Amino acid sequence: MSSPAAGRRVLSGMRPTGRLHLGNFHGALRNWVELQYQYECFFFVADWHMLTTGYDDTAQLPQNIHEVLIDWLAAGLNPGVATLFIQSHVPEHAELHLLLSMITPLGWLERVPSYKDQQEQLKEKDLATYGFLGYPLLQSADILIYRAAFVPVGEDQVAHVELTRETARRFNHIYGREPDFEARAERAIKSLGGRNSATYRQLRRKFQETGDTQSLQRAQAMVAANTRITVADRERLLGFLEGGAVAILPEPQVLLTATPRVPGLDGRKMSKSYGNTIGLREEPDSVVRKLRAMQTDPARVRRTDPGDPDKCPVFDLHRIYSDERTREWAAAGCRSAGIGCLQCKQPMIDKVVQEIEGMRRRAQEFIDNPGAVRTIIAEGADKAREAARGTMDEVRRAMHLRVD
Ligand code: TRP
Ligand code: SF4
Repeated sequence: MSSPAAGRRVLSGMRPTGRLHLGNFHGALRNWVELQYQYECFFFVADWHMLTTGYDDTAQLPQNIHEVLIDWLAAGLNPGVATLFIQSHVPEHAELHLLLSMITPLGWLERVPSYKDQQEQLKEKDLATYGFLGYPLLQSADILIYRAAFVPVGEDQVAHVELTRETARRFNHIYGREPDFEARAERAIKSLGGRNSATYRQLRRKFQETGDTQSLQRAQAMVAANTRITVADRERLLGFLEGGAVAILPEPQVLLTATPRVPGLDGRKMSKSYGNTIGLREEPDSVVRKLRAMQTDPARVRRTDPGDPDKCPVFDLHRIYSDERTREWAAAGCRSAGIGCLQCKQPMIDKVVQEIEGMRRRAQEFIDNPGAVRTIIAEGADKAREAARGTMDEVRRAMHLRVD
């Protein structure tokens, strides 16, 4: 039932918060760029998710979606290998969200840690809405509709993938198969008739024990050729061959990757809400100016004071950008007060600027060619919808709803 590639499918999404920064790049995007060459990847801009907290301020949404897409392409996401799309272009996400909402206990959503956390953090907003409570379930629908095997996300999203797994389990339990499936399958085997029943059992055992696909195919052919059994029994016999029932919505796994700590200019984590970021395609002059002024080890007040690289956010950037020799030079020079902070920063600044210049170059190609971006997004939506429709057909069938 499920397509062979689905076993290695990766899905992830990102909210369109506007232009991305180096924290977004090293925290997620860089990893996506690598994954796209190892798995069948679907990456989407989660515009509906933005509404769950930003429902009152949507004017900037189209622009922000565009900026994020340009940043993705600048960072090296390749529409030739990965499917890039915008969530709202695939309305099937909303349909699955609705259907899943019917079987999701309220307590599951109320217990998701981000529910209370974010309500407290974003006090100025009224987040006591239906949409905000339900957004982790929307995320579950995002994932399950592609039958993704892996979801690359950060720590903060692990609870959402866990909810997704519980939801899939519940769905499969309720709709996955008839409650007395095995008993019915046994009866169907008997109705195949003496010799055929024995052959069916034999072939099924061989396939299940050794994975021998020839046995599977022979059994499938045998069932298909039998004209005496009912259509329902034929379905049961085919389903029973490959295990019990086939999971309609497979449970995804988190793909946690080690990401470096990306400090912002003030030494705290780089984050848009702290205003301490460096843009992925910021003007080099501005990047240099910001980095030269960046917070260092607070204990190193004068040039003659020795410093501690482990207490210096600049050194975290060395860990990301510099080779080992440069890092050793910086650490030793810092501890002995042999070099000044500006001197220490310089090779790292050069590397950051170099990286950003590459991003700017690639971004410019797409900025100059808006038609290309439109095509990428239209094609991405087509591919995503095709996959989503396949799942929805099975979901509707399992729930005894209309099938397209
Ligand atoms: N909730 C995620 C975030 O805020 C974004 C997201 C939405 C997502 N749907 C997803 C991530 C599906 C992974 C899979 O970062
Ligand atoms: Fe930080 Fe380098 Fe200055 Fe040491 S010398 S405090 S590592 S910037």
